[in-house]
Amino acid sequence: MFMCDLRRHEHQAFGFLVDAPEIRALVDEARRMMAGIADTVARVEALKPAFATLLAAEGWLPDEYASPDLTSGMGSGIGQYALYRAEDGSLTLFSLVIPAGAETPVHDHLAGGLVGVYRGRQQETIYRRRDDGRDETKAVLEISRTQAMDAGEFYSLVPPLDDIHFVKTLSDQPSVSIHLLANDTACVWRHRFDPSTGDVKAFRSGYSNAPCPPDAA
Ligand SMILES: [Fe+2]
Repeated sequence: MFMCDLRRHEHQAFGFLVDAPEIRALVDEARRMMAGIADTVARVEALKPAFATLLAAEGWLPDEYASPDLTSGMGSGIGQYALYRAEDGSLTLFSLVIPAGAETPVHDHLAGGLVGVYRGRQQETIYRRRDDGRDETKAVLEISRTQAMDAGEFYSLVPPLDDIHFVKTLSDQPSVSIHLLANDTACVWRHRFDPSTGDVKAFRSGYSNAPCPPDAA
């Protein structure tokens, strides 16, 4: 217990909020790729082996960052926990915990990276946008595909392609997914969508364990 406490920095907003060698290895690799590969698709592709290694490793994610959060900005008890946050907003690693049977709102991310399931089973429903995006309050969406994913499986995200989705937990236990994205995902203003009405709302989910900068709006 004491050793676990040493690995976390409860009041730290940036840097390694969870300081584990497995997380440092992935972030170091991501930094190398960001410095060396300009093309987003190629960079995300090159990061896949390091990301798969983290997903396959045990013991680096504290239990409370793999647990639901009843006060969450996503709603439905969905916890979003920053594990690493670059202070300049260029890179974030976070866990997303969705209780059994719960689902996220339909949302976008506005940054590229990798998303994978660490525990449980999830279903992802991806939307295609049919309008030209000029009206910031409306979107015409249609489902492009649905995919189920088990622990260890992951996908790449390179907006604007496949950037709008929602995720539902299929397992009896909460699902935990790990996201490595090239922005401060929970603190940037992004969008949530209501596909039935076409309404689009500005959306900042916030992290369960770290504050957003006041000027991020
Ligand atoms: Fe998402």
